[in-house]
Amino acid sequence: MTTAARLIRDTLTPHARRLEVARIADLVAADAARPQDFALRTGGLYASFARQRFDRDARDALITLGEDAALPQAFGALFDGVTVNTSENRPALHVALRSALSDTAIARDAHAQAAEARVRMAALVAQLEASDVTDIVNVGIGGSDLGPRLVVDALKDFGSGRFRVHFLTNVDGSDAQHRLAKLDPAKTAAILVSKTFGTQETLLNGAVVRDWLGGSERLYAVSANVARAEAFGVAPERVLPMWDWVGGRYSLWSAVGFSIALAIGMDGFETLLAGAADMDAHALQTPIGGNITLLHALTAVWNRNALGLSTHAVLPYDERLALLPAYLQQLVMESLGKSVTPDGDAVGLDTVPVLWGGPGTNSQHSFFQALHQGTQTVPADFIGVVNPAHPHADNHAALLSNLLAQTEALANGHAADDAQKSYPGNRPSTLLLLDRLDPHSLGALIALYEHSVYAQSVLWGINAFDQWGVELGKRIAGELLPAVQGADVAVADPVTRALLDEIGARRAR
Ligand code: F6P
Repeated sequence: MTTAARLIRDTLTPHARRLEVARIADLVAADAARPQDFALRTGGLYASFARQRFDRDARDALITLGEDAALPQAFGALFDGVTVNTSENRPALHVALRSALSDTAIARDAHAQAAEARVRMAALVAQLEASDVTDIVNVGIGGSDLGPRLVVDALKDFGSGRFRVHFLTNVDGSDAQHRLAKLDPAKTAAILVSKTFGTQETLLNGAVVRDWLGGSERLYAVSANVARAEAFGVAPERVLPMWDWVGGRYSLWSAVGFSIALAIGMDGFETLLAGAADMDAHALQTPIGGNITLLHALTAVWNRNALGLSTHAVLPYDERLALLPAYLQQLVMESLGKSVTPDGDAVGLDTVPVLWGGPGTNSQHSFFQALHQGTQTVPADFIGVVNPAHPHADNHAALLSNLLAQTEALANGHAADDAQKSYPGNRPSTLLLLDRLDPHSLGALIALYEHSVYAQSVLWGINAFDQWGVELGKRIAGELLPAVQGADVAVADPVTRALLDEIGARRAR
């Protein structure tokens, strides 16, 4: 077991034992100031941890754990551009895309490069706005898709309306087939977004789009590999930079967010960055006890390691955040889906839970049955928005009452004579409330999750910024491609060989 894991175990085990049969409802009843004292605020965001299954002593132990694990120092290192991504020998300076909170040369240089790229991006936005282009297709996958897609969808109330923005992702040709069928190539521009410009899906879809456009006149690219983008046929003046010091899943704040800037305008994009910058300052400068990002991370570790809960649900009560769970699946599970430290030692404790979820109230009529009465306890983040951006007050009142009702029902449960109608309760949740959903608050919300993920990685002693686990499948797919295309090549695995034969036999049917 690593030192980090031992620290978690030794700090949390006594409290986990003490609270083994504790009930959230009793913890709330025994502590009149709990609703206020277990809530934190920053800017337009309020976070209540009052329905977590810990008491004041356990919460204080979590704060001590954060201090002993040197979380504030780790955040200093992140912002200073220390090589936190050791397996790839890089810093992770996504914070420099939106804030200037460090004076190190590397952080200042990154911040200046980002500002310079935004000037170029603004010029391209202006050019497109002045053209007769009506539709934009963002071609990318993973971090080159999920962040921009989430933000464009979530901020549709703030769209300038100048462009319709589409996302082409899946290597499945039906994605391109159906998406492009509705568009006019003469009035469409495409942005090929790929940090590496070596991703199979994006290169194949990029080639489909390039052919469909009939040339590269309205082809743009965002990449850290400018040479490859140019070799693909994108004119140098239409290639925006990325850098190896930004991880793909942390990159929507860079030119990867070109489609966002086209959807909500350059001012809207800058406001999104300002919201994230406010959360950066909060994360870096606020002591652990008042720090939403760090308490969120410590709560996640409590639920995973003290309570042993293996999944985590994200439940936004706002249709505009419907894509948040999918976005967070990459951010959280690609960052924290590790079981060894950078030295190759087994962590010795469980790390990332399976993250899943969906928007309320839709999900109430789907999987909430399992949340209330299933055998597994699923901790959840509920996210609510106080002021809507629509005039349908009755709908919004119903939405908020459902949000409040669900968190209460999950925590308190309900005893009935008929066991089938009993609710065990004691199911923990955090409630995040935004004053309103706008570019600023969305930037802050996403940055909150980024910082929580980093803090969790520090607590577990793992690298949040690499993703070696996705490589093996890519390599095998590359090796199998000729066999799938019909070439007579050796395939060692007998099951794969049999499957290829089966596919071959069924092809002509
Ligand atoms: O396969 C995983 C991954 O490397 C992600 O981390 C990344 O966001 C995605 O692929 C796309 O990579 P790229 O931007 O280089 O095309």
